[in-house]
Amino acid sequence: MRAIAPSILSADFGHLYDEITRINDSEADYFHVDVMDGVFVPNISFGFPIMEPLKKYAKKPLDVHLMIVHPEKYVERFCDAGAWSVGFHLEATDDPMPALNLIKAKGVRTCLTINPDIAVERLLPYLDKVDMVLLMSVFAGFGGQKFIPETMDKIRYVRREIDRCGLPTLIEVDGGVTKDNANDIFAAGADVLVAGSAVFHSQDPTGVIRAMKYA
Ligand code: DX5
Ligand code: ZN
Repeated sequence: MRAIAPSILSADFGHLYDEITRINDSEADYFHVDVMDGVFVPNISFGFPIMEPLKKYAKKPLDVHLMIVHPEKYVERFCDAGAWSVGFHLEATDDPMPALNLIKAKGVRTCLTINPDIAVERLLPYLDKVDMVLLMSVFAGFGGQKFIPETMDKIRYVRREIDRCGLPTLIEVDGGVTKDNANDIFAAGADVLVAGSAVFHSQDPTGVIRAMKYA
């Protein structure tokens, strides 16, 4: 699968409706929604108020990426707010299973993510328990960072494990994705690429999305 999830974090919030419409009319597959609490990451983005216009106007599924402590406290509210998928960081919990079970009980897809400094092996016990794993290719917290090249080997490693076990689990990659590296990231085994600044800071977001998808 080659799916593109533009990150609304890099959108122009003064023209959010237009930005949403532009993504609706593009070949993007999801809206990626980056929620930051200022504690798990050194930045604060947005929360439930932004889910409202997204739920109302977005015509593609909302892929919510929680960069927050205590995700188990909030995952159900994000499900109720219209999320199609809810993901949180493995390293933000002692045990991710309670939060994963709350998401599943809502009938919403689950995603578990790790920052670049977390051993990728720690995801393995959960590959058969989630719908998607998200490998961060930058440190969570800010858009516009450079893709960390070591992520490529991690993608290949997780791809091999998923295929070896015959699992349907998707691999999402987030951070520093551009139309120049998208093809290599897909080729390494990724299914979903998140792109923020490469899409929204471009003169031609629709063209960038197409270029990434069919790179
Ligand atoms: C980073 C976020 C990313 C970010 C990606 O903490 O999780 O989704 O918006 O932005 P770019 O594509 O600009 O690296
Ligand atoms: Zn993200």
